Amino acid sequence: METVVSGIRSTGNLHLGNYFGAMGNFLKMQHEYNCFFFIADYHSLTTHPTPENLKSSVRQVLAEYLACGIDPDVSTIYVQSDLPETAELYLLLNMNAYVGELERCTSFKEKIRKQPDNINAGLLTYPTLMAADILLHKAVKVPVGKDQEQHLEMSRTFANRFNRLYNTQTFPEPYAFNFGQSLIKVPGLDGSGKMGKSEGEGNAVFLADSPANIRKKVMRAVSDSGPTSPNEEKPEAVKNLFALMELVSTSDTIKYFEDKYNECAIRYGDMKKQLAEDIILFTAPIYEKINAIAADDLLLNKVMNLGEEKARDSASKTIKEVRKTMGFRK
Ligand code: TYM
Repeated sequence: METVVSGIRSTGNLHLGNYFGAMGNFLKMQHEYNCFFFIADYHSLTTHPTPENLKSSVRQVLAEYLACGIDPDVSTIYVQSDLPETAELYLLLNMNAYVGELERCTSFKEKIRKQPDNINAGLLTYPTLMAADILLHKAVKVPVGKDQEQHLEMSRTFANRFNRLYNTQTFPEPYAFNFGQSLIKVPGLDGSGKMGKSEGEGNAVFLADSPANIRKKVMRAVSDSGPTSPNEEKPEAVKNLFALMELVSTSDTIKYFEDKYNECAIRYGDMKKQLAEDIILFTAPIYEKINAIAADDLLLNKVMNLGEEKARDSASKTIKEVRKTMGFRK
């Protein structure tokens, strides 16, 4: 059975981008892969959360993961910091990760632009920590969105470098994975591109958003004044609305609005109304479970403890092997 590792940072509620990028169809295939889903709380430290924030975000993400349908008895769902083996592998991999390659990473350059007052070493070494998460379980498939493609390439580089340096076959090559032809980038509602947690109010639809909130957000989504000639190329914001429809609407609905667009008869108000209802239909089964699960401390603790135990099995095996290979006494 192939091993799959998927992670989400504990920096806030999950949105549709997280769902389709990091989980999506894997939820239906938990029996076919050896799946690890984890909450990346070490990664969230780059933005300096308070201890209270850290604690509550981890529980919230866990509750939302479970509401999405991860079965803790089938898959392994755990908290990254519960496995200090992660931190050890991160340290060891960092010794063979070069500052030059880390500095060239697109996500690092983006972070420098976004948070110029807090360019910490954790941001620079984000890709080695991510490689540690993946290699710790010797995963070969990693469900991620398009934004993480380069990080996966770096994970392969670190894995191959380790194998070469120590003349072993310790790590298999991990690949970014989605069920479609290519990795997915779920657009935001503000016309600017990617759906993201920190992209500003109104950009993201969260799984925990109420139907009323979803309607409000979608109705305010950026569109334009409509095409003026048949079969016109769509502007970015309109492409985004159609891309969201592709995820949640039926093919008949999509075709209806495509035709309307091509005939210059589209009414974006109608399209957004339909999109909002289709998103609500899609998220309702998840939304309805979140609060009850989040309030169930007993369940959350049980799941975290079980996950820690299961994840430690493979993590300790890998760390032992790595230590031995590198020449440590124990
Ligand atoms: P985070 O929390 O930023 O994102 C979690 C996952 O959601 C995906 N994602 C998207 N996919 C498509 N469209 C979007 N608009 C969108 N927004 C977010 C991300 O690609 C990601 O898959 N670095 C990871 C967390 C992580 C991880 C790992 C993932 C840490 N270690 C090991 C896999 C394996 C991240 O981006 O977190």
